[in-house]
Amino acid sequence: MAKLEVMDHPLIQHKLTIIRDKNTGTKVFREVVNEIARLMAYEVSRDMPLQDVEIETPLVKSVQKEIAGKKVAIIPILRAGLGMVDGMLDLIPAAKVGHVGMYRDHETFEPVEYFVKLPSDIKERQLLVVDPMLATGGSAIAAIDSLKKRGATIIKFVCLVAAPEGIKALQEAHPDVDIYTASLDEKLNENGYILPGLGDAGDRLFGTL
Ligand code: URA
Repeated sequence: MAKLEVMDHPLIQHKLTIIRDKNTGTKVFREVVNEIARLMAYEVSRDMPLQDVEIETPLVKSVQKEIAGKKVAIIPILRAGLGMVDGMLDLIPAAKVGHVGMYRDHETFEPVEYFVKLPSDIKERQLLVVDPMLATGGSAIAAIDSLKKRGATIIKFVCLVAAPEGIKALQEAHPDVDIYTASLDEKLNENGYILPGLGDAGDRLFGTL
């Protein structure tokens, strides 16, 4: 089974509290989501392989480290995943960005794919699939299905808030995918929202409440 990492760094917890607060408006919500994504990118990239490189400092020749191996693509699940892209790009600026459009049918809660546009070389890249909320897991599972169908092999899933139901479903469907979340919340309500959660992440990011 792949890794489940809850990133409970004090800065992340503090920022999460800000975005959970219903009185936080769109501007601050968007800024803080990006700040959390930036902090998460730091931890998600911790296992990036390094290789030796010879350079010259102003004083001597020296063998130092540089990032090696697979390149990265960030794949936001539309639309709420878009809110995490800029924060991640701050730390991984050379990453490409692909998009997978999923909406959740409000009656069945089933994910429906409506858009996929990916870098041509996703087979050679490590993919960071981002979506702020891992609720039932339906969209994440469908998005990752879609990426694997197109040849993706190395995938990490990064979210801000996860429900136990979503973690379980995603781990069962894709046991090879590492999951990083800033919080593991209590449960889903009868409408598929995470409790305590932060409401509808897409609506709060884009001001469409
Ligand atoms: N999607 C959201 O935006 N919020 C939830 O609580 C669950 C799914």
